[in-house]
Amino acid sequence: MVIRERTPVDDRAIRSLNDTAFGGADESRLIEDLRAAGLGAVELVAVDPSVAGHILFSALDVAVGGKPVRALALAPMAVQPHRQRQGIGGALLRAGLQRAREHGWQAVIVLGHQDYYPRFGFSAALAHPLEAPFSGASFMALELEPGVLQGGAGHVVYPPAFSL
Ligand SMILES: CC(C)(COP(=O)(O)OP(=O)(O)OC[C@H]1O[C@@H](n2cnc3c(N)ncnc32)[C@H](O)[C@@H]1OP(=O)(O)O)[C@@H](O)C(=O)NCCC(=O)NCCS
Repeated sequence: MVIRERTPVDDRAIRSLNDTAFGGADESRLIEDLRAAGLGAVELVAVDPSVAGHILFSALDVAVGGKPVRALALAPMAVQPHRQRQGIGGALLRAGLQRAREHGWQAVIVLGHQDYYPRFGFSAALAHPLEAPFSGASFMALELEPGVLQGGAGHVVYPPAFSL
């Protein structure tokens, strides 16, 4: 399996993968809207030999203690149903976080399975103080730069692509 950056040639396969994994077109629409808005920051595919997994991180408006934080939303990520539980999602997530760190991103926010993301370091407690349209155990954050989400009141504003 190869993990590499998405190219436009992958887009049909990415759409089909997301429609299958989520059972609908909402996530494909989100991906396309985020790209069209120029917010896509890290987008990877797992190829084996066709597209078996996909992950997108997009720029998100976050500030803590009055200072902007270079933050990303992780959404969506998907693995072909017959290829799930083989480590593909984890490999994509780790590679994406590594790339985000290398590009100077400071934090990642996710709304997702509360049993899945904590194993990669995401924490609901870290996201809890942030003023956001979400809350609860599924709303999690990860600091790529230690302490960047702490030290004052914070907020998260999602772009219109998320239709909030
Ligand atoms: C979530 C998803 C991307 C994980 O990809 P994956 O390749 O199966 O993940 P990995 O093989 O790296 O990790 C497997 C672990 O994921 C966990 N997992 C998979 N789907 C899960 C779910 N719906 N809820 C909670 N945990 C889940 C399993 O607990 C499994 O761990 P285990 O085998 O120790 O029990 C994949 O299951 C998927 O595409 N699901 C449908 C779309 C989706 O829900 N995307 C995430 C939106 S937040």
